[in-house]
Amino acid sequence: MRPQLKKFIDQIGKNSVAIIPAAHEQTRSYDTEFKFRQDSDFLYLTDFPEPDAIAVITPGRRTKYTMFVRPRDPEMETWYGRRQGTEGAKKNYGVQQAYNLDRFDKMFAKLLDGCDNLYYRFGVDKALDQKILNYLSGQRVRRLKTAYPPHTIIDPTLLIHEMRLFKTDEEVEIMATAGKIAAEAHILAMRRTKPGMNESQVEALMEGYMKNKGATGVAYNSIVGGGDNATILHYDENNAELKNGDMILIDAGAEYKGYASDITRTFPVNGKFTKAQKDIYQVVLDVQKACIDATVTGTTIQQRQDLSIELLTEGMKKLGLLKGATKTLIKKKKYMDYYMHGVGHYIGMDVHDAGRYFDDQKAKQSRAFAPGMVLTVEPGIYVPANDKKAPPRFRGVGVRIEDDVLVTEDGNRNLTTKVPKEIDEIEAIMNGRRKKKAAGR
Ligand code: GLY
Ligand code: MN
Ligand code: MN
Repeated sequence: MRPQLKKFIDQIGKNSVAIIPAAHEQTRSYDTEFKFRQDSDFLYLTDFPEPDAIAVITPGRRTKYTMFVRPRDPEMETWYGRRQGTEGAKKNYGVQQAYNLDRFDKMFAKLLDGCDNLYYRFGVDKALDQKILNYLSGQRVRRLKTAYPPHTIIDPTLLIHEMRLFKTDEEVEIMATAGKIAAEAHILAMRRTKPGMNESQVEALMEGYMKNKGATGVAYNSIVGGGDNATILHYDENNAELKNGDMILIDAGAEYKGYASDITRTFPVNGKFTKAQKDIYQVVLDVQKACIDATVTGTTIQQRQDLSIELLTEGMKKLGLLKGATKTLIKKKKYMDYYMHGVGHYIGMDVHDAGRYFDDQKAKQSRAFAPGMVLTVEPGIYVPANDKKAPPRFRGVGVRIEDDVLVTEDGNRNLTTKVPKEIDEIEAIMNGRRKKKAAGR
């Protein structure tokens, strides 16, 4: 049994039962599906890769881990791929008791009966919701006579997500590999990008590289934006020509063994920063490094966000994008004309990963970083092309720099440091000069 599942069993306790469903396949068009991606909570607890399965966890019983799975089926497997079946689930995934899915409707009531608490998340799997609701209303009338159905329903999400927030050493090493693969793909993009190429060609190079190195694919749709496409935060059309004199912003990460990396680099298409590009880039880079230094145990998420706002506001003043007293500009949120997102997020199995950002939801008490958390650090400045109040040399320029950082006992570890971000290092790579050693943060 996976340590994650063991811990979950200990936490919910003997009076409880949990039902955790896998994801289902999603139609892409007509009779073809999107490539299957397992539900992250289900994958975290079970590691079982197939769609439609349902795990039932019963800590109070001798058999604590039951799974309902798609049946073996020679015809379906010839058309659509191999299945573990009940035997594979037991042999390869540590499931203690496995049944074909069609047994679930008849059997799950027995597994629930006698438990006080049902851990189940309503609102995700509508068909399963309905089955459970039918069971609960059917049992209600029998409650005082012949049955003892759970009387308390608890959403397991918070519990599982708090576990997912703190990465084990094994998870960290997988994430370091996800980071390394994506970092190398960014280096490849720096080496190969030339004026006249299409954004999609750069995207293809990177995604091909990631898969070639063992990634299952990208962790999210890559953003490859040349020129003022870089000022669109979630630009993913990636189909415009890259122009001499423009910069390109690439936000692309790999998914490796179920874990994401998330890296952004911005560099000149022709390999040489102009003075204006250097000026704005250096402001963002300095802020990014300061925010990495702040990603340490004890600093709160809000403190880091405030730091990014203060430093970027000062940087915007230096660049001539904003004028006035820093305090007033911050109070009036003037920086939001050019910096309108958070400085980072948790990252893990989901690129925007699980875990609460507040200690106390009511008081909105910002949470302090603690060892085992992994967060991105991604400040940016985006100047719309039609911004008449901005100095002309910055109009249509977008810069973001993003790394993934593990909080440790005595500082932090940058998992994506392999891809350079200093101006001279980027220019050296793009112009085929000797690659200098990447900076340590
Ligand atoms: N790539 C998504 C993000 O940076 O949050
Ligand atoms: Mn990010
Ligand atoms: Mn990103």
